[in-house]
Amino acid sequence: MVPLQLAGARSMEPTDSRFPASFRAVGHDGFCEIGKTFGVTVHRASHSEVERINKIFRLFHVPHDSVGPCLRIQLPIRSRWSIMLILGIETSCDETAAAVVEDGKRVLSDVVSSQVAVHSPYGGVVPELASRKHVEMILPVIAEALTQAGKEPAQLDAIAVTQGPGLVGALLVGLGAAKAMAYSLRKPLIAVNHLEGHMHAAFLGKEPITNPFVCLVVSGGHTALYRVNPDSQIKFLGTTRDDAAGEAFDKVAKLLGLGYPGGVVIDRLAANGNPHAFRFPKAYLEKGSLDFSFSGIKTAVANFVRRFGPPAEQTAGERGQRAEGRGQRGEERNFDAQPTTSDTQRAEAVPGADSYRLEDLAASFQEAVVDVLVDKTIMAAKAAGVSDVAVVGGVSANRHLRQRLAEEIRCHHLRLHLPSLRYCTDNAAMIAAAAFTVWKRAGFSQNFFDLDAVSRWFY
Ligand SMILES: Nc1ncnc2c1ncn2[C@@H]1O[C@H](COP(=O)(O)OP(=O)(O)OP(=O)(O)O)[C@@H](O)[C@H]1O
Ligand SMILES: [Mg+2]
Repeated sequence: MVPLQLAGARSMEPTDSRFPASFRAVGHDGFCEIGKTFGVTVHRASHSEVERINKIFRLFHVPHDSVGPCLRIQLPIRSRWSIMLILGIETSCDETAAAVVEDGKRVLSDVVSSQVAVHSPYGGVVPELASRKHVEMILPVIAEALTQAGKEPAQLDAIAVTQGPGLVGALLVGLGAAKAMAYSLRKPLIAVNHLEGHMHAAFLGKEPITNPFVCLVVSGGHTALYRVNPDSQIKFLGTTRDDAAGEAFDKVAKLLGLGYPGGVVIDRLAANGNPHAFRFPKAYLEKGSLDFSFSGIKTAVANFVRRFGPPAEQTAGERGQRAEGRGQRGEERNFDAQPTTSDTQRAEAVPGADSYRLEDLAASFQEAVVDVLVDKTIMAAKAAGVSDVAVVGGVSANRHLRQRLAEEIRCHHLRLHLPSLRYCTDNAAMIAAAAFTVWKRAGFSQNFFDLDAVSRWFY
């Protein structure tokens, strides 16, 4: 292979025999590996093509004028230039996670170290403890992810990391590790928004979607609707005005003495309960609004428990016996029929509720939350004029929500995309997948040493 000359660059030389057209450009400020990822060939070029090439070179810190108008670097076929091995790192809350993902979709490894045992005695995440645990686990988790993927650090093309939103102390641990790796390995870094990570979870291990879609992100800290275009531009449609749905699950579970995290426990209990035993408020807000509100339903459950007492002392067996013959459909007791934010704060007495079943309470609460989530998601899809819907985030693991979505979305002739259960809650595979999209949209993060954790980062 003949060394090639770039205008403005001192020389280019072949570096990798696997890619015949790959080369190393020697720019004004040193060596830049280029061809390994892009596999490019050089010809005479038009001015606009040169502009495009310069954009790519900027990603690699080659000075802007490195490619002059006399040369053309032809980008290879799409599949070729999308070969990219990314290590993802996620530490935004209470999971220390690392994963290696190829091309933004093939998951080679996915390691998650959960902190549930650390936080459960406190009934919620303790930020200081989360940071300390991340510090302890981050290196073993990254090492395990590389081992499981069968990759050496030097084989990675980029390091991706969650920059926000999340707990600042927790985010800083992941960011610190990512910066250190990127610097020591001389790899580029891609900073990722955690919510954009969740959005990619629905397509992990599958072909990426090419249609625009509406995405409901429903997690511990967020409940928001977006329209996502094929070019990965994200348009905000609506969000919660108070609690996130996952937060409502967790708070209700806590006040029922069910432990942390509560969503899974309520999901399990609700499977044996009557969703129509009690009617809790559903906040649809103003007509056509794509916003959510879950604090009212949480308050209604709190008022219920204050009035009728916690069911905690009952054993599951006792609850089952006491429940016999009660709470069938048609016996629905209305806790608040008025679907407005102010009215949802009210919870009214229901005759006979003093001998209620915990399962019925869980199922009725869950039903009210799921109803709103499903209805608003379909409303958003219609308003945005799309045929595809993705629902992601921790609460998308809820079995009742998944079942209702499958039924309702089909009725409305829409297509549903759900993450597999392991990718609903926080993981690093979704961060590495999102990083691939971020890179295609905006390139690598420049001056990555200056990146700071972002506690609130909302599209
Ligand atoms: N089966 C389930 N049913 C309902 N909720 C669930 C279920 N499984 C998990 N959750 C809820 O999902 C949330 C955790 O999800 P996730 O890890 O995506 O949130 P987070 O990362 O803490 O918040 P965010 O992504 O908004 O920063 C918790 O609130 C948990 O109760
Ligand atoms: Mg999350």
